[in-house]
Amino acid sequence: MMRRQIWWSRFPSTPIFPFVLLSFFLALFFASPVMADSCIDCHKDSKFRVTNKKIFDYYQNWQGSVHATEGVSCADCHGGNPKLKSKKAAHVSAKINPSQSKSPVHFRNIPATCSSCHEEYYDHFRKSKHFEKLSKSKEKQQGPNCVTCHASVNTAVLNVNTVREACAFCHNVKEDNHPEIPDKAEALLGQFLSIHRFYRYLTVKGGVDQTVFMEIEKRTNDLFVDWHSFDLPTIETRTNELLTLLKEQRDIIRKKNKKKGG
Ligand code: HEC
Ligand code: HEC
Ligand code: HEC
Ligand code: HEC
Ligand code: HEC
Repeated sequence: MMRRQIWWSRFPSTPIFPFVLLSFFLALFFASPVMADSCIDCHKDSKFRVTNKKIFDYYQNWQGSVHATEGVSCADCHGGNPKLKSKKAAHVSAKINPSQSKSPVHFRNIPATCSSCHEEYYDHFRKSKHFEKLSKSKEKQQGPNCVTCHASVNTAVLNVNTVREACAFCHNVKEDNHPEIPDKAEALLGQFLSIHRFYRYLTVKGGVDQTVFMEIEKRTNDLFVDWHSFDLPTIETRTNELLTLLKEQRDIIRKKNKKKGG
């Protein structure tokens, strides 16, 4: 699985960097011919707008998602058989409904389903208190799973503006479940804005040593993954370490440019 590098794409004001454009054209160039997929052929029918609004909405959401762009189709998450044309055959009956405990998108099975492509996130998530709660709860969902925070078909990524509400859904005074967490999470995700600013500075100015640059990218990606342990003190340490590295590099570039300037 190719790791997507444009992690800062969720900041809408970011200009498109040349290599992002390049990878777009490469993707077009190497794109394999679209395979027949009965799930999509049938579900895309606009008649569902009238006959089954829910089915229609899920398709529309998927269509606009990163997953659709990346060719992740319905059957990758839901199972079923996308080679068979009739609904009954394609659905392989019982498992298509998420309320069935055997469905790959039943609330307890979702992390394992997502892990087929996002394994490193799952590896961290499995060690979290959240996973423990999720696996233990028999009927009712108690801990969050991947789609509680990222949505299902049209994946969302939490940021400093959205994280508070997402955590406060369960971590609040009323539930008496660590009500201090939303504040902490918001502060930590707020640091991503600084990380992004430094990162942009370095990209625009250029001149950063290639090995250091790769280290910065690696640590940023690791930080996303680390989040899934929900070990906030460790996340804080890693965030600060990354910020220190970025600041050092900024200062080096500043000095270099000053020398050049006179
Ligand atoms: C020939 C049409 C057709 C095909 C092919 C088809 N579906 Fe469906 N699907 C439907 C319709 C219609 C519904 C609405 C519920 C119903 O009528 O059973 C539905 C419902 C669903 C639901 C909601 C199920 C529930 O009980 O809530 C899921 C999930 C789903 N389909 C996934 C898939 C996947 C995955 C594939 C491919 C492997 C697929 N579908 C192939 C027509 C189709
Ligand atoms: C990245 C994984 C993923 C992909 C790709 C995906 N789904 Fe889903 N879908 C889920 C998950 C997880 C749920 C259950 C949670 C929820 O309802 O949000 C779900 C729920 C649904 C439901 C609601 C079922 C119900 O009864 O509540 C429908 C309908 C559906 N998906 C259809 C589709 C169709 C059609 C496609 C392809 C066009 C698709 N999904 C692609 C993960 C995915
Ligand atoms: C068949 C492979 C596959 C499966 C299964 C899959 N994903 Fe993805 N997902 C991808 C690819 C490829 C990308 C784009 C590259 C990247 O960000 O790693 C992506 C991107 C994402 C992103 C980043 C989206 C953004 O807007 O930046 C999130 C969040 C995500 N997936 C969550 C999930 C969740 C939750 C599930 C399970 C319900 C899931 N994925 C299942 C392949 C998959
Ligand atoms: C309690 C909330 C929560 C849960 C549960 C959760 N995540 Fe995340 N996820 C986050 C946060 C916070 C980030 C890091 C901040 C960011 O990327 O904006 C993140 C980042 C990601 C990213 C990187 C997005 C990007 O920008 O490229 C992916 C992919 C992802 N998560 C997948 C998963 C998968 C798979 C699962 C389930 C095994 C999962 N997440 C469970 C909150 C959650
Ligand atoms: C669906 C509910 C739910 C959501 C949403 C949720 N959590 Fe949790 N979280 C729990 C439960 C339940 C526990 C276990 C509490 C316990 O047993 O002490 C927990 C535990 C934790 C812990 C461990 C606390 C400790 O000291 O043991 C952290 C940290 C945490 N959550 C962070 C977050 C963050 C950050 C978010 C938002 C991005 C979030 N959670 C969203 C339900 C949730």
